[in-house]
Amino acid sequence: MQIALLGGSGDIGEGIGLRIARDTSHDVVIGSRRREKAEDAAASYRNTLAPNADDSRIVGASNETAASEGDFVIVCVPPRYVLDTVQAVRSDLKDDTVVVSPCVRMSRNETGFHYQSSEVGSVAEEISDVLPDQVPVVGAFQNLAAGALTDLDRDLDLDVVVTGDDDESKQKVTALLEGIEGLGTCDAGALANSREVESLTPLLINLSMNNSDLHDLGVKFR
Ligand SMILES: NC(=O)c1ccc[n+]([C@@H]2O[C@H](COP(=O)([O-])OP(=O)(O)OC[C@H]3O[C@@H](n4cnc5c(N)ncnc54)[C@H](OP(=O)(O)O)[C@@H]3O)[C@@H](O)[C@H]2O)c1
Repeated sequence: MQIALLGGSGDIGEGIGLRIARDTSHDVVIGSRRREKAEDAAASYRNTLAPNADDSRIVGASNETAASEGDFVIVCVPPRYVLDTVQAVRSDLKDDTVVVSPCVRMSRNETGFHYQSSEVGSVAEEISDVLPDQVPVVGAFQNLAAGALTDLDRDLDLDVVVTGDDDESKQKVTALLEGIEGLGTCDAGALANSREVESLTPLLINLSMNNSDLHDLGVKFR
């Protein structure tokens, strides 16, 4: 299958792209607002995984092209740009595409990181609201740190909490996640429960910032 990462040139896109390409048989399409930037990022990720190898399983494309090819479209852009990004590609999505939100809205002040809820409740629900009803949205990856994913020597041994209103889509995302070495999954129910998942992330970052022995934390429930 094709895994499209909108804004995949950034931190979490790199981590997710590397792990999927290394551990699964899926192809990865790095999306960007600029195709050349996506192609450069894809070349860099290929080089990280297999220097000098001719591996075409990670390619770069515009966000629109990536969205049009993805069986999964993972929205890897900062929350304030998420809705514009999704709206710009929504007519490009395939009929059976599952859209995945790793997004968390946070603020930062002198005391640390703080969760910012929205009127809708969560970024995952905001994404769902701007997509046609038939496009399933699944929340996942919010509690994984890019630094943990990009450190390919690190044994993750972490859970990913999955939310969504469509069971079949959640099962597809669960299968994708469980293909990544060291990741387990937990089902937190409906997409409306994404706010609780997203709100854990600032806690994980504050713990990392205040404890020298805790870096790039994730969650583990089992
Ligand atoms: N970083 C983490 O550890 C982490 C962990 C869990 C969840 N997340 C979530 O993942 C999402 C991405 O985080 P990140 O840290 O990877 O972000 P990032 O590195 O700051 O940015 C990701 C990409 O967003 C695109 N972008 C930047 N400005 C944009 C704009 N004005 N309009 C559209 N796209 C724009 C850029 O891609 P192009 O310039 O190539 O278009 C950039 O490479 C966020 O919602 C965050 O909450 C992050």
